[in-house]
Amino acid sequence: MPPIRPLTAIACLALAAAPATLSAQTAGPAVLRFDAGKPASRVSPKLYGLMTEEINFSYEGGLYAELVRNRSFMEAPGQLIHWKLVTRPEGGNGALGGSMLFDTSEKFNDAIPVSLKLSSGEPPSGRVGIVNDGYWGIPVRPNTPYRASFYAKAAPGFKGPLTVAIRSNEGSTVYASAQVTGLTGAWRKYEVTLTTAANAPVSAANQFEISAAAPCTVWFSMVSLFPPTFHNRPNGNRPDIMQLLADMKPAFLRFPGGNYLEGNTIATRFDWKKTIGDVSRRPGHMNDGWRYWSSDGMGLLEFLEWCEDLRMEPLLAVYAGYSMNRQGLQRVAPGPDLAPYVQEALDEIEYVTGPATTTWGARRAQDGHPAPFPLTYVEVGNEDNFDRTGGGTYDARFAQFFDAIKARYPQLQVIATTPVATRTPDVIDEHYYRNSEDQMASFAHMYDARPRTGPKVFVGEWATRVGRPTPNMSAALGDAAWMTGMERNSDLVIMSSYAPLFVNVNPGAMQWPTDLIGYDTLSSYGSPAYYAQKMFSLYHGDAILPVEAQDAPTRLWQPPAPAPRRGPNGEPPVAPATPPPAPPAQQVPTLFYSATLASETHTIFLKIVNRAAAPESVRIEIAGLASLDPKGQSIVLSAPSPDDTNSIAEPSKVMPIATPIDGVAASFTRTFPPYSITVLQLKGK
Ligand code: AHR
Repeated sequence: MPPIRPLTAIACLALAAAPATLSAQTAGPAVLRFDAGKPASRVSPKLYGLMTEEINFSYEGGLYAELVRNRSFMEAPGQLIHWKLVTRPEGGNGALGGSMLFDTSEKFNDAIPVSLKLSSGEPPSGRVGIVNDGYWGIPVRPNTPYRASFYAKAAPGFKGPLTVAIRSNEGSTVYASAQVTGLTGAWRKYEVTLTTAANAPVSAANQFEISAAAPCTVWFSMVSLFPPTFHNRPNGNRPDIMQLLADMKPAFLRFPGGNYLEGNTIATRFDWKKTIGDVSRRPGHMNDGWRYWSSDGMGLLEFLEWCEDLRMEPLLAVYAGYSMNRQGLQRVAPGPDLAPYVQEALDEIEYVTGPATTTWGARRAQDGHPAPFPLTYVEVGNEDNFDRTGGGTYDARFAQFFDAIKARYPQLQVIATTPVATRTPDVIDEHYYRNSEDQMASFAHMYDARPRTGPKVFVGEWATRVGRPTPNMSAALGDAAWMTGMERNSDLVIMSSYAPLFVNVNPGAMQWPTDLIGYDTLSSYGSPAYYAQKMFSLYHGDAILPVEAQDAPTRLWQPPAPAPRRGPNGEPPVAPATPPPAPPAQQVPTLFYSATLASETHTIFLKIVNRAAAPESVRIEIAGLASLDPKGQSIVLSAPSPDDTNSIAEPSKVMPIATPIDGVAASFTRTFPPYSITVLQLKGK
């Protein structure tokens, strides 16, 4: 469908109000007009942030750099998944005698009441050991030190050595190894560094092995292997993924969810007290919302240190007494039943912000971080609009949290996850997942006309869901259109974060298609939508300049029929006997824009999104400046096709390109490529 143009000049507010009344016109270049001397309001300094939760193997086999999967054998009671026994005679192919057992009689500690028992009665003529296959392999890189550690105890008579090694999958190539001796009958931690050779090939088809060459009975727990981490933090994060995030310069991190905060049941919520302290005392828990095990190696303090490493402010979501299993009614009634959960949240805030003289501040200091973390926003729950039983309990649950948090921490801003009537939240978290570029674009003006009388808005989850596992250029265009709307309205929309952030692209790892950043065992990449966000986050001023648009092109879009909804108790959606009529077709703009000004430097950042398949010529008229430097910069993200995307194989197929431009003036015309997102950086006086 070719673009069509409205006949009349359109102020940015008017287009949202009457999208269906636009009529076709072929004249003209579009005109964007603004006055740099008349900023409307301030751009929120926290507009661009991140949202994270354990989904799509975001931390396990993702950001959290641990390479051993099922390290404490808690993933599947009674089973040793991701572990196997190796019994290999020296230089031969047969098998030695030996066994590997899930042992509940030798418990490691109260949190991890199991262990792995390795036994062999064979003479020292080969190796008998345990092998972990990692998260889709163990990454090997040349010249790389790996920190291996484990707890072990041995039956009398065995002192070692144990050989700790990274081997190729078929076992014939040893990339790094070290020996451990001196085992006793008591649990003790052993640590070695495994360093690969300069000529080790980069590969993922490897495994981690601990073996004995003599008769043995040894129990193991908490078997761990870490490659180098970001900032060399122990128990830290993958540097490549952290760098992708650092490059976005995000202002905050919303954690720990999402559905991961809530769990399907109260018992499987993000129970923060079980995620702190020595990792060897964290039981882990079933992440039943996304159906895989979480070691909780990424616990509350690790989330906070992640914030610290990237200079983001934590945005803490606290469990609010609502878990997702609707049939089981996994929610806590407001009143006395909820009080322990409110206390849990107050303790959590104290752990984050309290001085080391407070109970939970002292615990944080003991865990290795004496300094309190900054905290401005606390979010109560997640998507509590889904709590519809009996009219819903969120209003009363929110009030209980709100009152307690405000009484103890009056400086904190409290975020509600859906509108409430009995209290006035400081901020409301709104979520917008759209299934097409046009659909997302059709909402890009929705905040223009929103009254400024209510709470501020945090768009805590949003995405144009086109492309899997990561969004393609079409999604990036929808996202960019949407971001112009948030930026233009950032007096109201004070924070935003795309979701989900991560996906491990290995087979079976993804639960939710369309995720901002993809990775496998060895490498990572940003999607076109990632680069669009990076451009928005990096290039903006502190003041919003209202833009008047004239002759902005549109195209016709047929919205989908509304999908049937679940019942109030989670009953599966039932399609009506007579399908509802399709909503009327709409004209949706193909050109989107936002202008901001850096007041101190008089730099203008003009963002222009051209979703059309053809180049778009735009006349730009700038008033309110004594002069404009004819030279500027243009940063463009574009692709020949909206289907183009990035991937592990082609991580840089769609990337922004910065070029100097000339000819900037109070009135000048520029042509924007098809399928493009542009930032013009212009210097005024
Ligand atoms: O981002 C994926 C999920 O979408 C989040 O966990 C939840 O909050 C939303 O429904």
